[in-house]
Amino acid sequence: MRDTSDLQQGLADLLSYMHDSLPTEKTMVEIGSYAGESAAIFAKAFTAVYAVDPWSLGMRPVEKAFDKRTKDIRNITKVKKRSEEAARFFEDESLDFVYIDALHDYQSVKDDIHYWLPKIKKGCFIGGHDYETGENAGVIYAVDELFGKPDKVFMDSSWIKQVE
Ligand SMILES: C[S@@+](CC[C@H](N)C(=O)[O-])C[C@H]1O[C@@H](n2cnc3c(N)ncnc32)[C@H](O)[C@@H]1O
Repeated sequence: MRDTSDLQQGLADLLSYMHDSLPTEKTMVEIGSYAGESAAIFAKAFTAVYAVDPWSLGMRPVEKAFDKRTKDIRNITKVKKRSEEAARFFEDESLDFVYIDALHDYQSVKDDIHYWLPKIKKGCFIGGHDYETGENAGVIYAVDELFGKPDKVFMDSSWIKQVE
């Protein structure tokens, strides 16, 4: 069971870690938004947040919860698509941050990093959730294989890496 206060503190720490390296006007994409809890936190720090999620069949109540939570948050744009398809709508080196929190198996995390890494400006950041042992260990395998290690892992198991 996820602890909301850990998520809030972890994302607050992640945001402050990036703060000095990012411009005042900044754009990010979240891959996997579920009911919008993390997107709403990101929206307090970013000028524009694109929330990507297919909200597939059976997730109508979750999608409704996302719509309700974000309806007055004007800098969140809902992108109802799968990660790979959504990536085609963004220019290379156009984003300040991409946060990956969709499917957590090794291959899916690796694929998501491959789709989105080219979209991030040099010197900006890629990250994601659930860098932890146990059922999400695929996140660790994929991130470590592609980056060596993340630059930092936060208390909610969010990871981050600065893009060179
Ligand atoms: C762990 S939840 C995200 C939680 C959310 N980031 C938060 O902290 O509030 C994972 C989400 O990924 C979405 N998802 C699954 N496959 C996806 C894909 N191919 N592309 C984008 N999102 C996907 C699911 O629909 C689900 O809502």
